[in-house]
Amino acid sequence: MLDEIQKLKEEATASLTGLRTQEDTENFRLQFLSRKGSVAQLFEKLRDVPKEDKPAIGKSLNELRTFLESEFESAQKKIAGEKRADTGSIDLSIPGRKRYIGRRHPLTKTAEEIKRIFTCIGFGIADGPEIEDDYHNFEALNFPPDHPARDMQDTFFVKADAGKYVLRTHTSGVQIRVMENNKPPVRVIMPGRVYRNEAISARSYCLFHQVEGLYVDKNVSLAELKGTVAYFAKEFFNAEAKLRFRPSFFPFTEPSAEVDVNCFLCGGKGCRICKYSGWLEIMGCGMVDPNVFKYVRYDPNEVSGYAFGMGIERLALLRYGIDDIRLFFENDLRFLNQF
Ligand code: PHE
Repeated sequence: MLDEIQKLKEEATASLTGLRTQEDTENFRLQFLSRKGSVAQLFEKLRDVPKEDKPAIGKSLNELRTFLESEFESAQKKIAGEKRADTGSIDLSIPGRKRYIGRRHPLTKTAEEIKRIFTCIGFGIADGPEIEDDYHNFEALNFPPDHPARDMQDTFFVKADAGKYVLRTHTSGVQIRVMENNKPPVRVIMPGRVYRNEAISARSYCLFHQVEGLYVDKNVSLAELKGTVAYFAKEFFNAEAKLRFRPSFFPFTEPSAEVDVNCFLCGGKGCRICKYSGWLEIMGCGMVDPNVFKYVRYDPNEVSGYAFGMGIERLALLRYGIDDIRLFFENDLRFLNQF
């Protein structure tokens, strides 16, 4: 019996080394390790072995079975691995996962470009709170108490215990803060987020961004305002950009104007983007109203100044030819990846 066990071990070991395919392994299992296989048959024979020999023979049979089972298992694993590698179910030539490089949001890029253009000609950058008090958002900017811009239609009011607060409707409040804290001359731009309670559409959103500019000094003139705006338009759009100043009204500037640039898309002939006018509005501006100087204790007889304010979304729409402002806020990667 012990000889038989030894013989079987040799036979099985030899055939293990010849296993190549999954079919081979299955045949091996049937021949040696299945319920009717050679190992099981030897276990059957154990019954007829004299009692005194049983422990030794049983032990060596058990060893044989454990040995063959573990050898068989590793042979099986090896074949399965080789098979996957060379039948193509794992394609080792497939490139790894691509890593995407982050990029700046188009609004950030536009704001940075605007900041670059103005800092080049000596403007500093100032900041202010988005939750603004009524005094800085309206009163000190010469908004009479019953001015329609204070209407619920436009302004988000913030409930607060002390005083009246709003989500700022423009960055103009920062003008006041800058003048309160600095003696003239001041020359700053003020970029930031603003809020308006408007119906959301392709052209307007409940929040957007502005860049405001303010220059106050002795003898600042309307001609300087026009020159600065023209410089900006040529830098931001192109050297051929044509401007149009239309008389307008803001409580904090007098005189006031709105500035249009000739439509980049149709070259002024008229198209959907410019609503067939050939012009696109890009900013509001004007000479600082003397009443505003009184609020910040500047002497209107000593100094004069200009201010302008533009919407960053509007400029980005024009620059990139985008037709829906909501795209800036949806963070859809298919949109953002284009910049
Ligand atoms: N604050 C104005 C607006 O939000 C823009 C503006 C700024 C106009 C400065 C004149 C001067 O529409």
